Amino acid sequence: MRPVEVKNGIHWVGVVDWNCRNFHGYARSAMGTTYNAFLVEDEKKVLIDTVKAESLSQFLCNIAHICKPEEIDYLVVNHLELDHSGCLEKIVEKVNPEKIFVSPMGGKVLKTFFDCEDWPIHVIKSGEEVSIGKRTLRFFETRMLHWPDNMFTYIPEEKMLISSDAFGQNWATSERFVDEVDKGRVERLMAEYYANIVNPYSPKVIKTLESLDELGLDVDMLCPDHGLMFRGEEDVKFALDAYSRYARQECENKAVIVYDTMWHSTERMASAIASGIADGGCSVRLMSVKANHHSDIMSEVFKSGAVVFGSPTHNNGILPGMADVLTYIKGLRPQNKVGACFGSFGWSGECVNILTDWLKAMKLDMVEPAIKVRNRPDHDTLKECYELGLSIAKAIREKTGK
Ligand code: FEO
Repeated sequence: MRPVEVKNGIHWVGVVDWNCRNFHGYARSAMGTTYNAFLVEDEKKVLIDTVKAESLSQFLCNIAHICKPEEIDYLVVNHLELDHSGCLEKIVEKVNPEKIFVSPMGGKVLKTFFDCEDWPIHVIKSGEEVSIGKRTLRFFETRMLHWPDNMFTYIPEEKMLISSDAFGQNWATSERFVDEVDKGRVERLMAEYYANIVNPYSPKVIKTLESLDELGLDVDMLCPDHGLMFRGEEDVKFALDAYSRYARQECENKAVIVYDTMWHSTERMASAIASGIADGGCSVRLMSVKANHHSDIMSEVFKSGAVVFGSPTHNNGILPGMADVLTYIKGLRPQNKVGACFGSFGWSGECVNILTDWLKAMKLDMVEPAIKVRNRPDHDTLKECYELGLSIAKAIREKTGK
């Protein structure tokens, strides 16, 4: 896509990655993504953020619509993950910048990715300002949002906050602003992005939002480095409020049952538990690990008040697809949920103990009893599963207070 002037003299020069389906090598991005970058024309010309290595030619084309690369004076590197810095070496070569601004952690990370001994690196402290003519750049460290090096760049004269990974969504579009598309879809994709990328750092998000509040920054344009941008008071507030809810990990009166199955016994148990949850007054979704990507499962876990895991015993363990999902979800640290587990077995029956250990390691509040059955759930076992579903629904409603 061609550049878009988002403010007078400030152009979006990023790249739309229409066909990205594997974001960062682990998360599904069904709608593609964008790598947003901004060129500010003032007494100093400033390029804020770059793009991944594979998108270099489109990026250079977009810059060339505005100015020659060598006319750029400063580079701002808000984040060094390679979706934002993969082409940095090439850009430094083309631009030959007078200064490159990075956070203190950014200065350290830069040296581990690039041979940058002769680069004009300027490490800036949080809150520091740099005048570029009529405008000022003010920088804020936002460690672990989503790496230790992240920072925001604020342009007070434009009320513009460039927020790197925060508030991003994986959505490749021809539109650049949220007010040009379906806002409900933006919210869903922003929540998916948060669940799969940002969730482990929720305490940092709360601190960042508090600091923004204390600083009283006037923001009328919020520009994440992925997806659509928020302009106007209403849409900026929409994004900030959503992050505040996400960071508190507020959950809904719903449960997700994540299961794997060999000969449908565990699946039948899952179905009976689901009936109990539904009759107990909560919404429920069954997700087979074979039919669903771990990112989609995590997006559902993120919203749910209960997470229920079921697997048959396989070779004294659990099925490998279930181990994949558990590993992924545990790393993303879901909080404020109840958990339960179940499974079938042929002879040794370790599944339920293994699942219980995973759920306890995730610090979920367990709903007992875990249910296991040899070979085939009979009527009594299915009744027990249904009753477990009722107990799970009760525990969810106690947790949410709804
Ligand atoms: Fe968009 Fe942490 O990279």
